Amino acid sequence: MQKKLLDWFDRNKRTLPWRTTRTPYRTWISEIMLQQTRVETVIPYFLRWMELFPDVATLAASDEQSVLKCWEGLGYYHRARALHQTAIIINQTMGCVFPSDPKVMQKLPGIGRYTAGAIASIAFGIRAAALDGNIRRVYSRTADISLPLRSSECEKILWQIADELLDPDRPGDYNEALMDLGNAICTSLNPHCESCPIKPFCH
Ligand code: ADE
Repeated sequence: MQKKLLDWFDRNKRTLPWRTTRTPYRTWISEIMLQQTRVETVIPYFLRWMELFPDVATLAASDEQSVLKCWEGLGYYHRARALHQTAIIINQTMGCVFPSDPKVMQKLPGIGRYTAGAIASIAFGIRAAALDGNIRRVYSRTADISLPLRSSECEKILWQIADELLDPDRPGDYNEALMDLGNAICTSLNPHCESCPIKPFCH
């Protein structure tokens, strides 16, 4: 299944600004922006952010007002404040180097299990699963889980599946492949099962 999915991703992956140059900083900013906002909306905000705040040090040295100004329109402003606070923490206590350990990341403001897994796998190639809304849907269908999607029992099973099925050699690509599959093929309404690369494995 992993091979079929990664082959599909290599042929069909979306070209997105945070995928062209991969750094922990760019991955972090994009993942926080994408937490509650659609990809198409995030793109111009991400590009503007990178012009104004190209790295952790610049962000840490900026005043909160300019950070919030750049975020204006994206909503859920606690995300922008958390980005600013985290940059200050990384600058003051981590030698301005973004941590690679997902457990350490999860101690920082605004970074939960999903975001830590996404940054660790995508930016550092670490074997960490990431479960977002798209991936929850893909796995609940693949494994035919009929529990309520947000129940704690379902959460536990889905994280277990995500851990077990993660491709050990390309964890970041694998996680993003599932995101893209959920976005383009395994859609919530009218999924395109006929063109799904993992159809033979799907229950
Ligand atoms: N949604 C959340 N993270 C994403 C990513 N890295 N690529 C595409 N969509 C996403």
